[in-house]
Amino acid sequence: MSEANDRHPMTGNRMSSDESGGMHGIEQHSYDVVVIGAGGAGLRAAIAAHDAGARTAIVCKSLLGKAHTVMAEGGIAAAMGNRWPEDNWEVHFRDTMRGGKMLNNWRMAQLHAQEAPERVMELEDWGALFDRTEDGLISQRDFGGHKYARLAHVGDRTGLEMIRTLQQRAVQLGIDVFMECTVTDLMKDDGKISGAFGYWRETGRFVMFEAPSVILATGGIGKSFKVTSNSWEYTGDGHALAMRAGASLINMEFVQFHPTGMVWPPSVKGLLVTESVRGDGGILKNSDGKRFMFDYIPDFFKAETADTEEEADRWYDDKKNNRRPPELLPRDEVARAINSEIKAGRGTPHGGIFLDIASRRSPEFIRKRLPSMYHQFKELADVDITAEPMEIGPTCHYVMGGVEVDADTQESAVTGLYAVGECSGGMHGSNRLGGNSLGDLLVFGKRAGEAATAYTSSLGDNRPRVDEADVTAAQQSALAPFEVEGGENPYTIQSDLQQSMNDLVGIIRTASELEQSLSEIEAFKVRAASMKVEGHRQYNPGWHLALDLRNMLIVSEAIAKAALARQESRGGHTRDDFPGPNAEWGTKNLVVNLTADGTGVDLTEKPLPVMPDELKKYFDAPPAATKEAGN
Ligand code: FUM
Repeated sequence: MSEANDRHPMTGNRMSSDESGGMHGIEQHSYDVVVIGAGGAGLRAAIAAHDAGARTAIVCKSLLGKAHTVMAEGGIAAAMGNRWPEDNWEVHFRDTMRGGKMLNNWRMAQLHAQEAPERVMELEDWGALFDRTEDGLISQRDFGGHKYARLAHVGDRTGLEMIRTLQQRAVQLGIDVFMECTVTDLMKDDGKISGAFGYWRETGRFVMFEAPSVILATGGIGKSFKVTSNSWEYTGDGHALAMRAGASLINMEFVQFHPTGMVWPPSVKGLLVTESVRGDGGILKNSDGKRFMFDYIPDFFKAETADTEEEADRWYDDKKNNRRPPELLPRDEVARAINSEIKAGRGTPHGGIFLDIASRRSPEFIRKRLPSMYHQFKELADVDITAEPMEIGPTCHYVMGGVEVDADTQESAVTGLYAVGECSGGMHGSNRLGGNSLGDLLVFGKRAGEAATAYTSSLGDNRPRVDEADVTAAQQSALAPFEVEGGENPYTIQSDLQQSMNDLVGIIRTASELEQSLSEIEAFKVRAASMKVEGHRQYNPGWHLALDLRNMLIVSEAIAKAALARQESRGGHTRDDFPGPNAEWGTKNLVVNLTADGTGVDLTEKPLPVMPDELKKYFDAPPAATKEAGN
């Protein structure tokens, strides 16, 4: 691959020789692989690309170290067998597929289960300080839908430690990082990726990255919903960039509502309350004091779920002879149950449900295992979780849907465009198990970085070129909101969109509400076409939001349209008018593409990849408490 260019005098990043006077006088850089996003997936992909010999850059909207991965609390799911030697990749694979209600891309679920343990050990080699078992092994905790305690963790701050470790390594390796820089368009040459165009958030100046491989690692879409655990960057940028470049999305109807977000005070409504609270023994109670989850055990999980308090409580120490507590059913089941209890009038004073660990574990245990939760509730809600229950309710947390990719390489349908982590689709099917996202981003981050590098290398000097006309169009499109006379403020449109998605495309959906949501989205699109931003390009958050809103709108339309089309209930998609799963819908994905005129989305159906017989055997019989897959 070609030689490194000179360094930018201010940022220290590499730049091309014509930075100050090249294409339209725009700052320009040239790389072999550009990674968009600096969460766990982006960092791991960049490290892999660098290690494989690519000149690599990371471009991120936020400051390095601030990506949303830091909010991942509970741990990394990996069948290391440190607490339960019976655990192995086959059990993890089966748990993942069952959690996703069999809609997962089986190959991704297999690779994930097989490779996650190695990726965790590698993180430790790079300096991550995991909690330990009594024997000095990496500690692993229980989480919903996982048969064994499997989440490698650092208290309840695992994502923070992961980012610290990966970031330190990326900086040590000398990977160039462009912080507070937002990508607005991808460039193509003859159908192949040739680069990415964006702007510096501080100065508003444009910047062009020439690169044959772009890896999208931009996370999720949660900011389209009013109540969310997601941070401000989660505006569906990667999803929208991919669609505009010609790639497809799959599984967009499946949105995960984490069962436990804060409900009080209003300023922090939606903030994540880690599943580790339940994994470590916490239980859910309604306002009558009833441990209600026993009333919500679905047939699909009956064989593996305890139906008495005694058995549920014994399970923590003896998993062989007991079944899992119902609080540790997969998230979709628990979120629906909580929603039903609140709707039935058995909620807490602030409209949630009680999550109680105080009566179940000692204050010392709680403070040691859940330090962030202890401080979060003490400081934000004046609640001492070692002495009183928390009030919690569902919060939009994760989108299972994302860019349709090849399972082994993470390449999309567009040559040179890859997607990893939350912005890719397939791995989690209709519902993700907790802890599987941190495993996913490590496993597939590495794979994408390596595949992107191999592709760029294969091109030699025959790299796709950036077309000047495309750069001009990208500039004009980015500046369009400044040209509008008397239009509407983007903040009001965003707030209306978030309310609408919350009310009409939430946990429980119906055809009439989804139809209403689609017509509201059409109206938001009309309003957005004439939205106006004040001032100039320097540090202008209104302008930034106007650009993000285009992504939020197209992604929201993809979610609502796919949700209307899928006439069944499965995982993170519950239709009041089509309760329960439908066998035929269980054989296919909905694929979303941009319409030919680029103003909306189209849907097509596609059969699921066929699972080979040697993996099918794990699903022949319902799992019993004492019977292992693969053993
Ligand atoms: O509950 C949690 O700690 C979240 C973890 C996850 O989404 O994987």
